[in-house]
Amino acid sequence: MLMTELIAKKRDGGTLSPQEIKFIVDGYTNGEIPDYQMSAMLMAMYFRGLNHDETVELTLAMMHSGEVIDLSAIDGVKADKHSTGGVGDKTSLVLCPLVACEGVKIAKMSGHGLGHTGGTLDKLESFPGLSVNLTPEQFLRNVNEVGLAIVSQTANVDPADKKLYALRDVTGTVAVQGLIVSSIMSKKLAAGADVIVLDVKCGSGSFTKTEDSARSLAEEMVAIGRAAGKKAAAVITDMDEPLGYAVGNALEVKEAIACLSGEKCGELLELCLTLGGCILVAAGKAPDMDAARGILLEGITSGRAKRKLAELIAAQGGDERAVYDTSLLPSAPVQLEALSDKSGYVNHIQADSVGLVNLHLGGGRATKESVIDLSVGLVLHKKVGDKVERGESLATIHASTPEKAAEAAEMLRQCYTITDEKPQSKPFIKSVIV
Ligand code: URA
Repeated sequence: MLMTELIAKKRDGGTLSPQEIKFIVDGYTNGEIPDYQMSAMLMAMYFRGLNHDETVELTLAMMHSGEVIDLSAIDGVKADKHSTGGVGDKTSLVLCPLVACEGVKIAKMSGHGLGHTGGTLDKLESFPGLSVNLTPEQFLRNVNEVGLAIVSQTANVDPADKKLYALRDVTGTVAVQGLIVSSIMSKKLAAGADVIVLDVKCGSGSFTKTEDSARSLAEEMVAIGRAAGKKAAAVITDMDEPLGYAVGNALEVKEAIACLSGEKCGELLELCLTLGGCILVAAGKAPDMDAARGILLEGITSGRAKRKLAELIAAQGGDERAVYDTSLLPSAPVQLEALSDKSGYVNHIQADSVGLVNLHLGGGRATKESVIDLSVGLVLHKKVGDKVERGESLATIHASTPEKAAEAAEMLRQCYTITDEKPQSKPFIKSVIV
């Protein structure tokens, strides 16, 4: 088989066979196919798209490009969750202990953040001492004994996705359904859980800008998960503004702890109850979503879920006292209010641009090698639909220097669209595919 012929075939609208897809994935993973040919293939795939059969074959070839984790040594139902990526997305920090304290095991492999989106691992690393690099034996032991572990994906799980995602990131070929589906589902299938829930973001801060494209993406991922013998569900949620209030690693941890403490957390809590409900129902721990919601809320009011977070932190070497005393988490030396220069209603907050404010403050990675400041970020005080007066604070900026804080405050003001009319409210959870 010749890669040049396969590139031309895809470029001209042809359909790649399972053997051709395996040839491409294996060849690229082991270095026989160079970046320049794979870039051309990705661009052809971007413009021509992938049909369902091609997407399934690509998912399977990527999943089998490395180790497929065997979780059979862990008792009970094992669940995993994936988000298509957003700004202010601290969902895993709330959701994982919330369902683990009901007896569903969470064996989660996660990533560090890159660009405008944050990563769960960076947020967890805000706990002094915590390690996300457990040996495979420690990982299995923690899941068995504590009920959950969240670790860095090891290099030998889905190496094809690691190479392909890095290449897509720099060749403008991320935002196409077949490539997103195969990237996410190959990782999730290789990670070995029985139940997979997907948080599919939709709107200006995500890859899928429209509800229709988010639904199509979610349905295809769920179908592939089920065809592989897993229980799979998806929740489509709005990412037209950041999720919740905090953006920045330690600040997001504080918001997640507040949510687990039963403090008012709005859409973050709503999302965790919905994703958690899908998991409890799929795991046979609740008969329906309403019953699951009651169980999960009780986990919060009883303090069980928060204690489970503390157990997770301690089991991975972190200082669990920070769960009860958040002053032990990193905090930035400078705080500045970003004041509104207009009165009216918040009509829109450009989520990806808010992520870039955090990046500017040093809280995100411009490249994989960047060292990040876990303490910086911002806490929004005004969300879409809120009334705001000129001179009122839109957000508190947490920065390392007064200069950075002032620059970030100006950037943040630009993220807001303020209008005279109150915008029509839109549902945050757009649909649930169970
Ligand atoms: N998240 C992933 O893991 N892969 C994609 O392609 C897009 C979002």
